[in-house]
Amino acid sequence: MKLKINDFEMAYRQAGQGPAIVFVHGFPLSKAMWIPQLEGLKDLYHVITPDQRGHGESQPVAGPYTMQMLAQDIDSLLDTLEIDQPVVMCGHSMGGYVVFEFFRRYAHRTTGLILDATRAGSDTPEAKDNRENTARNVLQDGVMPVVEGMLPKMFSPLNYEAKPELVKEVKHIMAGTSPEGTAGALLAMRDRADSIQTLTEIRVPVLIIHGQEDQIIPVTEAQLMSDKIPQNTLSVLENAGHLPNLEDPVWFNDAVRRFMDKL
Ligand code: MLT
Repeated sequence: MKLKINDFEMAYRQAGQGPAIVFVHGFPLSKAMWIPQLEGLKDLYHVITPDQRGHGESQPVAGPYTMQMLAQDIDSLLDTLEIDQPVVMCGHSMGGYVVFEFFRRYAHRTTGLILDATRAGSDTPEAKDNRENTARNVLQDGVMPVVEGMLPKMFSPLNYEAKPELVKEVKHIMAGTSPEGTAGALLAMRDRADSIQTLTEIRVPVLIIHGQEDQIIPVTEAQLMSDKIPQNTLSVLENAGHLPNLEDPVWFNDAVRRFMDKL
């Protein structure tokens, strides 16, 4: 399905009825990363999986993007879908950065947050420089160098060896991101606000999910968020890297169900 959202055509999928959960994908991924959640949770919840601007089947609008823009896109999607009730916002990695921004702007629209393989801090000066260089290179050389560099770090070393089909699928999703979307998102991540202070201000229940062997965002970041968020549950999956929802969808969906039961 596609809708005109702000200045672009946004692709999204939705299924099921009941309390709504919006799953916001990470970088450089798409709604396709949430297929096991859409399929596994739609019997109980209204599952909504957007493609962020420039990603998946959404229009490849030119960047730079900002987290404010990405959060506003989700807000406008909820308006367009006429979802007035507060929702659970689940963000993976960069999607978590979007969720923090969404929470700062539209806290009234949230009834709970799921922070999946993400972090609250902003980039170091060195990381900001890297983002900028990579954004420039992507517009010249395409996304494959980014994909090849990130792919082995997306999984636990064991899963990277043992699950070639999954690795291939994730590579395919990443390779489908437009250069505009990839560069735009890199600049949005570079300029994102620090959310450490926000952690202490979150007044809704939070589920923090992280892979013990995440090589992109270390599990210590999840512990830090858990130490600061007033009401949270921390669930760490042992044999998982940066994609616990794909490395063990059954475990992930169970954690989401338990969290939703308590809301
Ligand atoms: C992601 O997985 O969304 C990004 O790699 C996170 C980041 O680069 O900070």
